[in-house]
Amino acid sequence: MNAAELAAAVGDLLRDTRLIVVANREPYIHVRTSEPTRGIWNWLRGRRESSAIEWTRPASGLVTALDPVMRACGGTWIAHGSGSADRDAADARGFVKVPPDQPSYTLRRMWLTPEEEQGYYYGFANNALWPLCHIAYARPVFDEADWRQYVRVNQRFADAVIEEVGDRRAVVFVQDYHFALLPRLIKQARPDVTVCHFWHIPWPNREAFRVCPWGAEILHGLLGNDLLGFHVQYHCNNFLDTVDRGIESRVDYEHFAAWRGGRPTFVKPFPISIDPSLWQGPVRAGDQAAERKHIRALLGLKNEKIIFGVDRLDYTKGIPDRLHAFGRMLETHPRWRGRVSLVQVGAPSREHLASYQALLAAVESAVDAVNNRFKTDTWTPVIYRPVHHRPEEIAQMYRAADVCVVSSLHDGMNLVAKEFIASRADEQGVLMLSKFTGAARELDQAIQINPFAVDEFAEAMQGALEMAPAEQTRRMHALRERVASHTVFDWAASLLQASVRLESDR
Ligand code: G6P
Repeated sequence: MNAAELAAAVGDLLRDTRLIVVANREPYIHVRTSEPTRGIWNWLRGRRESSAIEWTRPASGLVTALDPVMRACGGTWIAHGSGSADRDAADARGFVKVPPDQPSYTLRRMWLTPEEEQGYYYGFANNALWPLCHIAYARPVFDEADWRQYVRVNQRFADAVIEEVGDRRAVVFVQDYHFALLPRLIKQARPDVTVCHFWHIPWPNREAFRVCPWGAEILHGLLGNDLLGFHVQYHCNNFLDTVDRGIESRVDYEHFAAWRGGRPTFVKPFPISIDPSLWQGPVRAGDQAAERKHIRALLGLKNEKIIFGVDRLDYTKGIPDRLHAFGRMLETHPRWRGRVSLVQVGAPSREHLASYQALLAAVESAVDAVNNRFKTDTWTPVIYRPVHHRPEEIAQMYRAADVCVVSSLHDGMNLVAKEFIASRADEQGVLMLSKFTGAARELDQAIQINPFAVDEFAEAMQGALEMAPAEQTRRMHALRERVASHTVFDWAASLLQASVRLESDR
């Protein structure tokens, strides 16, 4: 399904129903042009609006999927107004029509105080729930003051949603772990409104979840939903098991629903994807060759093969593990010395948090360890670029790579894997993919690896480098068929169709 097909399918279904999306990230952000590019801005694509302010769009699957739906149906997207010029671009109540160059729906910006942002976003969402759900050996930090801000911000967003609904029929589509309490708050105030939630990160097993001091409140909040989506069935099972053993409720495993207070929450997998049309490369062979040449020159490479990694700099992504495996491969397979470089691109993220600062230091020391040991006058084993790269540049790197490596210790889905596939119209290139990603369940023609097993990982890396072109084509062809037939528009359509069906059933 493409954007136009999604708009047609969902626009028809939602004709008399108001659609309200709630996500922490806004689909359009206004910033001052004089601002340096760092942190969250690393994930953004810029477009100039005036000499003083520019508006940008997050390069996220979520925005790609929901923006066309909102354009087709109208409605409101409620989000944290986090841009430095967001207030200048919005009216007194925080409303701004978007897209800025072709207004068709409303963005309602919520202004958070520094204390709210610290407690709700950095604190409870990213220092407690993020490590709790990923189980990547980072200890969750449960802080009473953070929790209070999380409760407060969820209530503030609920008030905004209820105001937006007014006296109409509505479907509210809540995004992610920032808003676990929101569904219940909406449902209590407006039982007639359909609430659907997509949880973009894993759901842990019951034993891991038990350590959360506010676990019951979180489960209770989520059971305010009519529909709750995860990327994979395994996370749905974990969630139902957590509910079953954690709070008073009735779990119906036959229909995948949890009942509480006389009403059900249906729990289903909806694997997210990308818009493959954004990752198509040059069609002419001459242009492809020129692109490769440009990327090699940019990276200072001669004839070395390229192993490529690109991630948000997050401790769940297994970046030090990837570097250790590369070092081990150079140690055990010396013939690759001087003949392959690992290019690691990373965007700094959530830098306020100590766990992210520690990760940056760990990546830097792993890069140094490999380079100090193996570097020569004419060859750099690891090329590390922890700076902003535009999506077009990333696409060029995907196409220049011989191997793309995704080594997450745990990941809800991982869209880098799908972007790499969508970029390879030449059906060449090898994808190495951690078996602990949601994507691994769909992409079975990738070389699946365990990032915790350094020797195995190193062997798989050298196997990937030696894979014959015909075998690469066979695998990439199958991978591309999967990504082309399950786009982010299919994801959005199936979630919204399921929600609207629930709404009309009531
Ligand atoms: C994860 C979350 C998203 C989030 C993204 C970037 O993928 O599931 O909700 O948008 O990370 O993180 P940030 O904290 O910068 O929004």
